[in-house]
Amino acid sequence: MSTLFTPIKLRDLALRNRIMVAPMCQYSADNGEANDWHFTHINSLALSGAAMFCIEATAVEAIGRITPGCLGLWNDATEAALRPIIASVRKHSNTAIAMQLAHAGRKASSHVPWDGGQLIPMSEGGWQAEGPSALPHKEGETPPRALDAAGLARVRDAFVATAKRAERLGLDALELHCAHGYLLHQFLSPISNRRTDQYGGSLQNRMRYPLEVFDAVRAVFPEHKPVGIKVSATDWVEGGWDVPQTIEFASELKKRGVDWIDVSSGGVSPQQKIPLGPGYQVPLAQAIKQATGVTTMAVGLITEPKQAEEIVASGKADMIALARAMLYDPRWAWHAAAELGGQVEAPPQYWRSQPSTHKALFGATSFGAR
Ligand SMILES: Cc1cc2nc3c(=O)[nH]c(=O)nc-3n(C[C@H](O)[C@H](O)[C@H](O)COP(=O)(O)O)c2cc1C
Repeated sequence: MSTLFTPIKLRDLALRNRIMVAPMCQYSADNGEANDWHFTHINSLALSGAAMFCIEATAVEAIGRITPGCLGLWNDATEAALRPIIASVRKHSNTAIAMQLAHAGRKASSHVPWDGGQLIPMSEGGWQAEGPSALPHKEGETPPRALDAAGLARVRDAFVATAKRAERLGLDALELHCAHGYLLHQFLSPISNRRTDQYGGSLQNRMRYPLEVFDAVRAVFPEHKPVGIKVSATDWVEGGWDVPQTIEFASELKKRGVDWIDVSSGGVSPQQKIPLGPGYQVPLAQAIKQATGVTTMAVGLITEPKQAEEIVASGKADMIALARAMLYDPRWAWHAAAELGGQVEAPPQYWRSQPSTHKALFGATSFGAR
């Protein structure tokens, strides 16, 4: 019996297995609007067999995009562009659809990765980024503008407005992006947050803004639907954000009803030294789960079914999220189910692909021809 393929419930959202397709920026939107690429990409991965698909980091306002190609959900046009894609997924798949709500903060106005990913200067069509403090991500870059009280309220309200649009689109869950050196993580980390007001300095002060945003989003998203968060559990830099602080943050989020913590790391500083290797972030998820009892997702270089099974069966994390392995093998969860003795839902158009060695892989299916 596979633990990876046992159900889990997040509020009223019943998931058939413990696998989520991790949010993955596609850098392919037009003015934040999804297009045919997103249609293909999202529909393809909605058939992966993972119980939940998380739509990529979706900017809550235009200046909060990492790149000019980042997806957004801040106006009627961006909402309308996503609607037919969601409708198509619903028609052909039972996967739950989550969306990651994001703001890039000081890492906004970057080139797309395949154009190098560096800052786009304003003279070349970039825009003025904003962050907790006027400190650039990299030495020598144009510093962001420090958010004042009105700016903080504007960005918080943008998260709220996007959460409402996500609900109008009928999405099942939200994940706040508080990782990888983007705006909410920038508030947490002493490396990027040098504020002297109530949003900077002590751990309590640095957590204040991300918690306010979480509360505001939670308050407008339906009670029965889950809201999770993705964190960088450590900056991998001496004197930066670390696991003990993440545990404090997770405890505060638990009090506020967070439904999962998706545990990643890094992204706030070019000085980071990441000990990359298979499952390298699993111990971070495990530490948070052990200390707080919050539902956690492990992510990062999880590629093998047996590796994923071990993570959830041993209780190191409650779920796993996969990014690159899903792009490489968009039926990853089918293959994992076959290997581990689980079951996945497949659309009838694909039933005939069920291997003769795994007659129950797609459950009770039957088809014929004359
Ligand atoms: C193409 C691509 C885009 C990504 N975009 C996002 C994103 O939008 N939000 C996010 O939190 N992480 C993003 N990530 C990071 C992944 O969600 C994940 O945390 C990371 O890749 C480690 O998991 P993996 O080893 O399974 O790829 C992205 C990764 C890739 C490969």
